[in-house]
Amino acid sequence: MPWDELTPRQFPAMEKDLKGISRKTMEDHYKLYEGYAKKTNECRRILKEFDYAEIEGNQVYSPLRAVAVDYTFALLGFKNHELYFGHLGGEGGDPSGRFAELLEAEYPGGLEMWQQSVRKSASAARGWCMVGYDLNDGSIFNYIMDTQNLWAVYNMVPILALDVYEHAYARDFGATPDGRGEYVEAFFRNLDWDHVNRQLEQAEAAKAGRGRRRHRGLAAAAGRVVGDSARNPPSAPTVAEEEPGALSCSRPAPRRGGPAGPSSVRHWASRMAHNRRTMESLKGQLLIAAPTLEDPNFARTVVLVTEHSHEGAMGVVLNRPSQAPVIEAAPALEPVVDVDALVHLGGPVQPTAVTVLAEFDDVAHAALMVTEDIGFMAAESDLDEVAVVTRRARVFAGYAGWGPAQLDTEREREDWIVDERPRPDEIFTPDPEELWSAVLERMGGQFRLVARMPPDPSLN
Ligand SMILES: [Fe+2]
Repeated sequence: MPWDELTPRQFPAMEKDLKGISRKTMEDHYKLYEGYAKKTNECRRILKEFDYAEIEGNQVYSPLRAVAVDYTFALLGFKNHELYFGHLGGEGGDPSGRFAELLEAEYPGGLEMWQQSVRKSASAARGWCMVGYDLNDGSIFNYIMDTQNLWAVYNMVPILALDVYEHAYARDFGATPDGRGEYVEAFFRNLDWDHVNRQLEQAEAAKAGRGRRRHRGLAAAAGRVVGDSARNPPSAPTVAEEEPGALSCSRPAPRRGGPAGPSSVRHWASRMAHNRRTMESLKGQLLIAAPTLEDPNFARTVVLVTEHSHEGAMGVVLNRPSQAPVIEAAPALEPVVDVDALVHLGGPVQPTAVTVLAEFDDVAHAALMVTEDIGFMAAESDLDEVAVVTRRARVFAGYAGWGPAQLDTEREREDWIVDERPRPDEIFTPDPEELWSAVLERMGGQFRLVARMPPDPSLN
């Protein structure tokens, strides 16, 4: 597709107080990023306007050479900072997930060796230390780059970008080798490993040829999907406004009773009581069905709460995939999902209404945000544009709904375990069958015991 001008975007890290890296440093640094976008656009426009029949081609100096070389400096300055700002704002800690697996396999000394390597590379580089994934062989390598256009290699996909130019740390740590070392430690304290793993996931998908299909000619309206979605467009959070009463839960009357679970199950009660005291809205949080919740609509489900107010609550079940491929059930949504994606059953309310939950690079394209960067695609979206500004998306048919105070009542009854900080990889889990246990395992403590309970407590 033809080149289009770059537009700087906003990053969650810019709204946070990072550990050790000041807001002033981040704000000034962001201005450099904006400058790279401006100069990239300027260079590219000039390169399009040259009269190549007449222009001089000279390797010592020529306008063509000067602009073409600086174009790569500006463009890679933009790209590197996209990754740099994008993966700041996290909780730090050691590498995790698939990225950690690859490092363990790559370095004979494991994670510790990699960490020492990247620290020393950060000292040896004049501009960047870039951890890249090689599309040819699937290996990981720490690149030393003196400027953003020196010396990366072809088919390297940046996974982690450590900016070691003085502008990144001189104000906060001093322009000395020791200051740089302290900054590198601060960088890792603020790193979002989930973001790093998303970069890696995309790179591995590209290597495997499993990238998203992006069809320029498929800018179909999102309402042209299955069933009655035109009446209930893929923007579930607005359904309640358009159709008063839609929040009423259509599932069977609450059940429960039966024997109490083992003592380990009852232990979560105090934590749940704490949650009830300290939270007003559960929006953006997870509801994990208690093992004693027998309603077949929700047994062993994990629900992402997408709205919660005094008017009621809405959510989508994250771990009930259907057998229906999106490309067959809702072909108009093909550009925004993986080719093998399935429609997920979001809940028993309006089971033919379709919603698209996505992780956005640019939240301006979302109808309503659920977490910082995860929200619902707007019904009127151009799907090709959405495909560009989202990192991943999931299609749901139906949703879960609760009337006023109904969810609070169910929580009083201990039907649900609440997790306040779901991880994006859980919301878009590739392994929904294991999600219920995986979330409880991750929550730790007595929830681990709950996670290992068989489906029927009587079998325990
Ligand atoms: Fe920078």
